[in-house]
Amino acid sequence: MEPKWWHGKVAYQIYPKSFCDSNGDGIGDLKGIISKLDYLQALGIDILWLSPIYPSPFVDQGYDIADYENIEPLFGNLDDFDHLVAAAKERNIDVIMDLVANHCSDQHPWFKKACADLNSEEAGYFYFVKGKNGKVPNNLRSYFGGSVWDHIPGHEDEDIFYSHYFAKGQPDLNWYNPKLREQVYKFTNFWLQRGVKGFRVDAILSIVKDLSFPDLPPDDTDGMCHAANMNARNLHQIGPFLNELKAKTFTPADSFTVGEVLTVTPESVKDFAGANGYFSTLFDLSAREKVESFPHYRMFPNLLPDDFAQCVFDTQDLNQKVDAFVAPIIENHDEPRGLSYYMPDYLQNAVGAKTIATFLMGLRGIPFIYQGQEIGMTNTAFQSIDEFDDLYAKNEYRDMLEHGYTPEQAVASCARHGRDNARTPMLWDDSANAGFTTGKPWMRVHQDYKTLNVKNQFGVLGSTFSYYQDLIKLRKAPEYAHVFTYGSFERVMIDQGLIAYLRTDKETEQQLLVIINTRKDSCTYDLSALGDKRVCKHQPQVLISANEATLSVKADGVDGIINLGCGGAMIVAL
Ligand code: NOJ
Ligand code: CA
Repeated sequence: MEPKWWHGKVAYQIYPKSFCDSNGDGIGDLKGIISKLDYLQALGIDILWLSPIYPSPFVDQGYDIADYENIEPLFGNLDDFDHLVAAAKERNIDVIMDLVANHCSDQHPWFKKACADLNSEEAGYFYFVKGKNGKVPNNLRSYFGGSVWDHIPGHEDEDIFYSHYFAKGQPDLNWYNPKLREQVYKFTNFWLQRGVKGFRVDAILSIVKDLSFPDLPPDDTDGMCHAANMNARNLHQIGPFLNELKAKTFTPADSFTVGEVLTVTPESVKDFAGANGYFSTLFDLSAREKVESFPHYRMFPNLLPDDFAQCVFDTQDLNQKVDAFVAPIIENHDEPRGLSYYMPDYLQNAVGAKTIATFLMGLRGIPFIYQGQEIGMTNTAFQSIDEFDDLYAKNEYRDMLEHGYTPEQAVASCARHGRDNARTPMLWDDSANAGFTTGKPWMRVHQDYKTLNVKNQFGVLGSTFSYYQDLIKLRKAPEYAHVFTYGSFERVMIDQGLIAYLRTDKETEQQLLVIINTRKDSCTYDLSALGDKRVCKHQPQVLISANEATLSVKADGVDGIINLGCGGAMIVAL
């Protein structure tokens, strides 16, 4: 693999609205982030991804952009942004932005001009499509529920509609129009010239459309089909668009880019993230995808650690096969907390936080940590639908009531599956509002903030935060950086909660075993069970361990037995 500047780094995602509020208006902001850069440096991360900070009406929390070349006033201004990038750089942290180019906001001047004049140049930036047989052009259901089609504002009585795969306030941009593509390259370069080192690329599969706008076979009783199913059908068209984007923006700037790409196949992984891929890497969203392949919360399956591990292992295999570099995660701003979602109930706590951390931080690729994950944040105990902000959760709540569920059941389902779990304020200390704001937080605070917070963990031996620090340090330590970064991945087992994999580096002759026990009961693992998979026969050495996992080396100095209690986790050099 050709070395790249971002190989071997660890990234961190900030959801700006909920990270740190500097001026007491209840909303996180850039000055707040700047005040926490020392914290991030202490954690040890190298790349900082900021979810959108552009001017926005916040219909979808900033993923509806009204101006691509400015900063949302609630977050600060361009000077604050420049200051943030420079201050981060002083701490060896590179900033990447969110590139949201499948859609803009209905408040963007392009859309306003387009609606005012259907023959304007801007009208060509969108999909304005005539209805079929007195109905909308096709039966696609948007990601957040309801049709992807709506009447064009000001043209409510006409048989013409605009497409929005996400919320009504997020009109899709027409990538088949070269003028629109030039606009995208222009704003992308605007930020690269300002010093950002790359992008997380939002919802990018949705930019390809079947311009005949056919119906798809319904996937539910509403006669509709989830728009994501259309993406898969049109995937073959995406190459020219993304190669052009890359050539005109990312390549000249030597950017790091990470795609939000679902529905991956062996071929598409290579195209997207192989040596000449459109992006540097792709998130591993496979576990979430497994859940979200069902159209509604009420149908979502429960995943066990084994299911999660299976998804992750498959993704590791797939990426390695095509020499691609994946970005493993346990959660992000679109998901419930990984600790609550993938760990059994008895491990949804400080013990399990280290278990899942060990699993994540040993993987091949560039791991992303989501704000609060490093202190073991779990889901929030939402009590009523009024505590939710996310339009997706609200739509699903309504859907459940329509399907005969009680309000209590519907709230419980939103609390389990909802994206707002990740969007409650970061927990800094045990003061009012967890030290996130001196004002009234825009979103309720997690129930456990009195004990679960940074202040309780920073510099505290044995805390989840310290454990993440140690894991990151280990991953980047000169002796092990090569095997963690480039070592091959090989599954060892997924056995009713006992999960293990190997990382092997032929170049440095190093081999690591990563093992976690998510079973309730203690268990042992005899290294001799590795058989031929073990290619390094040094005296086994514990590099890091959690929850009292121990290794006893046998008399031959090569074999050994690992003892793992509930949640036990270990990385061993073999
Ligand atoms: C994916 C983003 O991560 C999510 O938050 C957003 O709602 C959609 N794309 C639409 O931009
Ligand atoms: Ca603020």
